[in-house]
Amino acid sequence: MTDKHINKATIHFQKLLQDQLARVDRMSTVEEQTDYAALNPIIVGILGGDGIGPFIAAEAQRVLESLLQVPLDAGKITFRVIEGLTIEKRAEVRQAIPGDVLEEIKECHVTLKGPTTTPRKGDPWPNIESANIAMRKELDLFANVRPVRVPSEGIDWVFFRENTEGAYALGSNGIDVTDDLAMDFTVTSTQGSERLLRLAFEYANKNNINKVTLVSKANVVKTTDGKFLKVGYEIAKEYPDIEVDDWYIDIMTAKLIDPKRRTQFRVMALPNLYGDILTDEAAELQGGVGTAGSANIGKKYAMFEAIHGSAPRMVVEGRAQYADPSSMIRAGAMLLRHIGYEGQGIRLEMALDITGQFEKKLVMTGRKDGASSREFCDYVLETINAPDLEQRWKSHQP
Ligand code: IPM
Ligand code: MG
Repeated sequence: MTDKHINKATIHFQKLLQDQLARVDRMSTVEEQTDYAALNPIIVGILGGDGIGPFIAAEAQRVLESLLQVPLDAGKITFRVIEGLTIEKRAEVRQAIPGDVLEEIKECHVTLKGPTTTPRKGDPWPNIESANIAMRKELDLFANVRPVRVPSEGIDWVFFRENTEGAYALGSNGIDVTDDLAMDFTVTSTQGSERLLRLAFEYANKNNINKVTLVSKANVVKTTDGKFLKVGYEIAKEYPDIEVDDWYIDIMTAKLIDPKRRTQFRVMALPNLYGDILTDEAAELQGGVGTAGSANIGKKYAMFEAIHGSAPRMVVEGRAQYADPSSMIRAGAMLLRHIGYEGQGIRLEMALDITGQFEKKLVMTGRKDGASSREFCDYVLETINAPDLEQRWKSHQP
């Protein structure tokens, strides 16, 4: 009996090892980086997703269209709305991303994606893998970059979350060895850590930030987190002007709410699961997960999204039109910067700071007593186009 279970689990594990070793091999071959300046047109895919996704994605698209009017008219940028990344369709074909949708996504250079429902045991949906995670794996979007800024509190953070490994790599491939014994796996590779950590250090270097903080739980999760930390310190040697320190995730979580300590953090690099958790906490300090954008960066592709979920309850209760579109619009700003429209991205970020943090002429509550997504988006558009945008933004800097 026991032998049978062990054999079955061993065969499963062997297959996982083969897949992971093949993935490491693929990472070792140099992939060319997309040069957006050389593309004509740049194709931007819009994926509505589930729940409140289509509502907030439409608002974000409206903002991007306004900021990109000139290149859009000149045919240098094209928007493509991709249908079908919905839980209904995914459940029907039993795929995390339906094949035809994935093909369309791969024809775009970058995508802006609304939140998608992640099925879990007990849901009416088949327990398929999260579309987010599948997209990160399929397009090899290895870095999840999440900025959080609260100027009035001196908070100016950018999180570099590893996006294809850790507890997520095999999150849907654990083993029920027996009825009583379940095992999951966490995966860290040298190549996977290196590319993420290098991006974090490069970002710090380019932006004159002299500190990078590595986050792990290497005192307990010794092998995988240990590797992440070791690679981090090795890469740090290439950047002698950048100070590097490391914190364990538990105390790091505490220090983010310590007003004296937290202002010292600037760039943080961390494995997948810790990054997932810590960035929700950080976003809450900025005004909620509805306010934070997220960039999923690979060598070839990039995908931009809100950091929150699809909020199906808001749809059921008829409140989807009151969903805060800020996170999607922030993701849009990151998209603009990424494809070479830095100026537009900066204007948009300023407008979001003004509308969401400084002036707050409209307040979103997620309900009828607050502004609607559309009204808020109009407020953002009006702010972007105001001649005194920069002055207004500067007047609120500490
Ligand atoms: C995020 C989300 C996803 C994640 C979910 C939807 C799978 O929480 O982007 O942070 O865990 O990565
Ligand atoms: Mg998350």
